[in-house]
Amino acid sequence: MSSGRTIVVGVTGGIAAYKAVNIVRAFVLRGDSVHVVATPAALRFIGKPTLEAISRNPVHTDLYEGVAEVRHVAIGQSADLIVVAPATANTIAKLACGLADDLLGNTILASTAPLVIAPAMHTEMWNNAATQANIATLRERGVVVVGPGTGRLTGADSGAGRMEEPDTIVTAALAALDAADRAAPARRVTPGDLDGKRIVISAGGTREPLDPVRYLGNRSSGKQGVALAEAAAARGAVVVLVAANLEVPAPEHVELRLVSSAADLERAMNVAAGDADVIIMAAAVADYRPAEVRADKIKKDDTGDTLVLTLVRNPDILAGLAAAKKPGQVVIGFAAETETDPDRLLGLGREKAARKGCDYLVLNRVGWTEGFASERNAVRVLDSRGDIVIEASGSKMSVAERILDLLR
Ligand code: PMT
Repeated sequence: MSSGRTIVVGVTGGIAAYKAVNIVRAFVLRGDSVHVVATPAALRFIGKPTLEAISRNPVHTDLYEGVAEVRHVAIGQSADLIVVAPATANTIAKLACGLADDLLGNTILASTAPLVIAPAMHTEMWNNAATQANIATLRERGVVVVGPGTGRLTGADSGAGRMEEPDTIVTAALAALDAADRAAPARRVTPGDLDGKRIVISAGGTREPLDPVRYLGNRSSGKQGVALAEAAAARGAVVVLVAANLEVPAPEHVELRLVSSAADLERAMNVAAGDADVIIMAAAVADYRPAEVRADKIKKDDTGDTLVLTLVRNPDILAGLAAAKKPGQVVIGFAAETETDPDRLLGLGREKAARKGCDYLVLNRVGWTEGFASERNAVRVLDSRGDIVIEASGSKMSVAERILDLLR
């Protein structure tokens, strides 16, 4: 189960294999779903239980296990990113030749995801003309090569060939992922498959005024909702975009209704919902608003060192729309949760799906660097029974396309 992207970490047989643990851990802590493919040689340097405990997933090694599920290609096909660390001279040579005599080779050949490798070997092996030619070949094919660094090697020798530090590898890998995302086609358009459907989408974050100059708000940029609106319009839908304080331009070919507070958003949604075939609540709505909105700016002199605000609950707009659903109408909500444990996250999504009563709930993890305002998203879409019907990750546009596929 993935709360973020699906990342395959290939570990090959070098002493630096123990450092792969920190790479795996870094991705897991970011909420990514990490699958380790270790070569048999790697497992002579590091134990499978360690990699399984840290990755929270089974570690795969054998090409002939899981044949019924076509594992030799399935792992690579599901990857958003493959990182091979350490990458031995032998593995680098095999990659350059396109060999697939083990599970890692098959996984890499079957994948279109960005590939990042972190070479680790003795200086002479690194400098060898064969290795350098292989590295040049891989670079030409777009493989990102991180390092190697220079420093103390396994024996008494020092020089080039030391695997880069895990943090450096993770940073380079995430940069490669972002670059691939930007280079990907903006969308996988299925022209016309939503022809004539009336879709109402909310996007952005509400602002709850405190006084004429201040508000309580949230960090939603509107990117995910705008991507949904743009993609739906491109697929032939008639789109009403109810936009709360967008930080990105609204797309063309949609009917725009500007709102600010949760109360404004509720009014606009209720009006637009009347003749909608589909309602999507991607906006981040304040659960509370100040009990009192001051007519004049709140002055420090009047409040002293502390200011206590009394907040009152806002109505649950999504639950209201779902309860008032017309026959045939589809209501899709979002759930933004900070829970890092994938199972507990799913549990929260299921509870929310049941509570809101919508047809589908798009569960995404949010945090300081995730979900809100970022370019990418990773979602699991639950149906009204709480079953996962879609898992998607990538640019917000690609996630939007997958969500809209539900409506064809
Ligand atoms: O805008 P971006 O920067 O691209 O970020 C996208 C996003 C993270 C904001 C988006 O993907 C997302 O998760 N939107 C929902 C945010 C939210 O309010 O989540 P929630 O779990 O608090 O609410 C659950 C659902 O109820 C949402 O559909 C929300 O719109 C709705 N709601 C919430 C409170 C309320 N009073 N009324 C509501 O209708």
